Amino acid sequence: MKNDIFLRACRREAVPRTPVWMMRQAGRYMPEYRAIREKYSMIEVCKTPELATEVTLQPLKFGFDASIVFADILLPVEPMGAPFEFAKGEGPVVHTPIRETKQVEALRVIDPEEDLGYVLQTIKMLKKELEVPLIGFAGAPFTLASYLIEGGKSAHFEKTKRMMFAEPETWHLLMQKLSEVIRLFLRAQVAAGVDVQLFDSWVGQLSPEDYRQFVLPHVQGILQDLETTGVPVIHFGTGTALLLEAQREAGGTVLGLDWRTPLSWGWKQIGYDRACQGNLDPTLLFAPKEIACERAGRILHAAAGRPGHIFNLGHGILPGTPVDTVKAVIDYVHEETDRVHSVRSPQASS
Ligand code: CP3
Repeated sequence: MKNDIFLRACRREAVPRTPVWMMRQAGRYMPEYRAIREKYSMIEVCKTPELATEVTLQPLKFGFDASIVFADILLPVEPMGAPFEFAKGEGPVVHTPIRETKQVEALRVIDPEEDLGYVLQTIKMLKKELEVPLIGFAGAPFTLASYLIEGGKSAHFEKTKRMMFAEPETWHLLMQKLSEVIRLFLRAQVAAGVDVQLFDSWVGQLSPEDYRQFVLPHVQGILQDLETTGVPVIHFGTGTALLLEAQREAGGTVLGLDWRTPLSWGWKQIGYDRACQGNLDPTLLFAPKEIACERAGRILHAAAGRPGHIFNLGHGILPGTPVDTVKAVIDYVHEETDRVHSVRSPQASS
């Protein structure tokens, strides 16, 4: 591999410059992606390894230090027995939401090779082409459960939390099944050649007490198992300022921070013995380049040159983001943290 600084930062080793990648870096902000989506649905792209490979590679021309396999956290729920679609403008819609114990009991624990072989195939194709590390991923059990129970996106998560509070046995059974599927799927991805990110996008909906009771043991089971494979694992959530201590306990080589948590404070909570990923507000990419870069600079300042910082957004890149600003921020982070150059050049260090 030509450029492994992302992996070195995950292990908190010294790196010549801070690695950069952005969640959802392949997607609708790119004209090349939109051109493919005019001909194929999102699901078709995911299920056709040649297309998924092409889309994964598209953003690498900007200079990212890692790639992320083009797929979606919801893909495993279809073979589990909960079909869904991506409805235009609405996001994911699960046709029959899972709300009864019987429905939870009926969910299948899938075989990733058989049921999600197309993702593994995409990974194998990508590994032949890539010069940077490849991140595989899965949704975490809380975030996946919320889509299954609500039937789509949600503002208050009332149906999810109703099951959690009122029917804890059903809840834990659902979390167990999801955790087993996630664990098997991530292991299969690791075997196919990736490093891993676990997305718990909506877990910030919970208080630390409820997180510990209803979620932590399940996530811990997944992460502890993955750590035995030796690949670095990024544990990401949003709205998690008060959950960081518990998330750290649940595990992860790298903990992700969203933009609401100041990086200097957040990393302290996580502990400097773990790497830290984040955390530019994705909406800053809509501001003039100078402002976006100045804010990126504040994040670098907060990271203070400590080993183990991976520069990312605080959440996924938004549709409509100007591509020039994406490129400008990547270049800025690389130039500002170019340690090889600043050691060699007396001017740069004076
Ligand atoms: O480049 C990458 O990061 C890899 C691809 C990726 C997608 N989804 C592609 C996608 C990844 C890592 C995801 C993860 C994902 N999917 C998450 C966790 C990360 C996060 O942002 O919190 C979540 C919650 C989902 C569920 C999901 N999938 C939603 C809410 C949506 C709809 C968004 C919308 O605005 O319509 C999707 C669809 C989706 N997944 C798109 C992409 C590029 C848009 C599909 C399109 O082309 O229309």
